[in-house]
Amino acid sequence: MSEKRQEIDWEQLTAAATAALAQSYSPYSQFAVGAAALTTDGRLITGANIENASYGLTLCAECSLVSELFRTGGGKLAAFACVDGEGRALMPCGRCRQLLYEHSAPGMLLKSSSGVLTIEEMLPDAFGPDRLAG
Ligand code: THU
Repeated sequence: MSEKRQEIDWEQLTAAATAALAQSYSPYSQFAVGAAALTTDGRLITGANIENASYGLTLCAECSLVSELFRTGGGKLAAFACVDGEGRALMPCGRCRQLLYEHSAPGMLLKSSSGVLTIEEMLPDAFGPDRLAG
């Protein structure tokens, strides 16, 4: 485990993700999700899942977190945590792994159910914006 992995205050980040559960709108699944991240310039941002009667249009907690990233100044994610209604670490769904990859700094750290991973470990050999260049 690198030094950087230990610098993140995971307890604080998990607490922020747990607090964000209160903003979840999940009447259909009854499965609230809260997310929190630190940006590379030190902001703490959060998100919660927002569902829709047309189930497939549900916005995961990662979606509202990325919206907040841009609403509060943009930049890149440095560390990320996501929790279920009981405050347990939750792995991002496949679509959200791609979403997080797009907005992460290289080496972004993520608290998974099996420990801290980098974004590259979570989405190996990712398709990303570089592949579209030139
Ligand atoms: N959900 C998230 O918010 N993030 C994930 O990465 C996994 C799933 C939400 C979507 C839906 O509102 C509920 O969890 C049940 O799938």
